[in-house]
Parts: sequence; structure tokens; C-alpha cells
Amino acid sequence: MTDSEGHAVTTGAAPGVFDQLRLDGLTALVTGGNRGLGRAMALALASAGAAVAITGRDQARLEQAAAEIGDVTGTKPRAFVVDLLDSTARQVFLDQIGHECGRIDILVNNAGIGLRRPALQMTDEEWQRVIELDLTVPFLLARAFAPAMIENRFGRIINVSSALGLIAFPGRAAYCAAKGGLIMLTRALALEWAELGVTVNAICPGPFETENNQVIQQDPVAYRHYLSLIPVRRWAKPEEIGPLVVYLASRASSFVTGAAYVIDGGWTAQ
Ligand SMILES: NC(=O)c1ccc[n+]([C@@H]2O[C@H](COP(=O)([O-])OP(=O)(O)OC[C@H]3O[C@@H](n4cnc5c(N)ncnc54)[C@H](OP(=O)(O)O)[C@@H]3O)[C@@H](O)[C@H]2O)c1
Repeated sequence: MTDSEGHAVTTGAAPGVFDQLRLDGLTALVTGGNRGLGRAMALALASAGAAVAITGRDQARLEQAAAEIGDVTGTKPRAFVVDLLDSTARQVFLDQIGHECGRIDILVNNAGIGLRRPALQMTDEEWQRVIELDLTVPFLLARAFAPAMIENRFGRIINVSSALGLIAFPGRAAYCAAKGGLIMLTRALALEWAELGVTVNAICPGPFETENNQVIQQDPVAYRHYLSLIPVRRWAKPEEIGPLVVYLASRASSFVTGAAYVIDGGWTAQ
């Protein structure tokens, strides 16, 4: 079909466009996949055909999430109990996942601490814990899994940053610093591995309805204040992050690297 000037007009998705989003034959690891955004992303990746592994510290919730994702998608997600802040446990986990899952093709660095604490009240230990889990652990895991991705000339590393990695908020100094650093880590690694088939991108969510945010959602004044800051005037449901992570994990996004995708209802557009 052509338009009045003779240019070709497409009437639907190009052939194969949805096929490019399939993740069959790929293995994805989602840290912090036992609840919240991590669980939603693991479910989306499994729905797109990936073999999924999830981590968390809470074994019961981890097993429950794995079972639920398995039921919905007809897959068998693997579940690894690990405190990613414990270097010994981290190494045991890396050995175990290598043994059980082989190469990881898609790494979603999602586990994070959303600490809310005014700077003057923050302890050294709190600062270090947030920087360690929200910034250092994503680096350590990227460094651990990238060599096999590079050898295979295919890899996807997706770092879950935050809108607060782009704009600041009072009471969130460590979190903003870590998430802003994570965006720069994303860009630096993207450049190092750009010619090697490994893309590195960040997702910057705005307010999603997860446990981490219950304290705000249950406070009517704080809740209304947040709504006033979100141009679409609502909070996001966890499942709304699914299609974006599938896109970034798939072959469809092979020209996308070093990017930071906001998914924030317009928050950072202001
Ligand atoms: N929800 C939002 O509105 C929002 C907005 C912007 C960015 N984000 C980011 O998105 C990610 C997920 O957020 P969420 O709201 O889903 O958070 P959440 O409900 O608090 O979940 C955090 C996840 O991280 C895991 N985790 C925490 N500490 C860990 C540790 N030491 N070792 C291993 N795993 C650990 C938790 O599992 P266990 O407790 O069982 O270990 C859980 O699975 C975070 O990086 C967060 O900063 C969220």
C-alpha cells in the first residue's frame, strides 16, 4: 500500500517484530526476584521464553515467587537464597549458579535498598550498605557474568537504577548517590563492551506500588504529595515494568546500549 505521494505505508507490525522479543534459549538472572519489581521482571522474562533464576534472602518468599512464576509461565525458575552483601555467600552463589545454570545471558541487577534517612541522621553503616548493594554489587555481578557473555558474543545487562538517579530528593542522599552512580556505571560498562555483543542499560523507575513504598502509600499526606509530583497522577503497578525489561533483554534492542530508560509517569520530564 502507498500514500498519496507514493511512499510505502505499513499497516501493522513488520514481519518478525514480535519474534525479536522472544527470549527462548536464553537464561536470565534477576536479583531480588522474590517480590516487587524483581518478581514482575522475572515473570515477564519467563513469559517471553527465558529460563529464569531469581535471588533473595527470604527463602519462603523466594520459593513462593518461583512457584508462582513457574505456574503462570509453565517454566521451572531456579531460586537462590543469598545475601548479596555477604562476600562469602556471594561467592558461594556465583559458584552454585554457574554449576546449575551455566552461562547467564541476561543479568538484571535489581536488588536494592531504598533507604530513607536525612543525611545528618545517616550512620556510616547505612551509607555503606546502600552504596554496596545499589552500586557495588551490580558492578561485581556484571564483572562476574560478562566474560561468558563476551565469549558468546551476546549479553544483556540491565541495571535497575531509579528516577532518583537522575533527580534528587531530600532524605535520600545515599540512594540518590548510588542510583546516579549506577547510571554512570551503566554507561562506562556499555562503552567497554559495546563491540563485544554485550549491551548495558539502566531502567529508572518512578513510584511503583511495591513493599518498599508501603510506608508512603499508607500515609495519606505523603501519598497525595507524591501523586501531585507524578504527571499521570497515579502510581505504577509492578507489572508495568515487564515489557521494558523484555525489550532490553531481547535481540530487538541490539542497538541500544549505555541508555537510561525512565519509566516514571512523567516525573523527570518536569
Ligand atoms: N518501587 C519503586 O517505586 C522503585 C522506584 C525506583 C527504583 N526502584 C528500584 O527497583 C529495585 C526493586 O525495588 P522494589 O520496590 O521492588 O524493592 P523491594 O520490594 O524492597 O525489593 C527489594 C528486593 O531486593 C532484595 N534484597 C534486599 N536486600 C538484599 C540483600 N542484601 N541481598 C539480596 N537481596 C536483597 C529483596 O529480597 P530479600 O529481602 O528477601 O533479600 C527484594 O527482593 C530496587 O533496586 C529499587 O531501588 C524501585
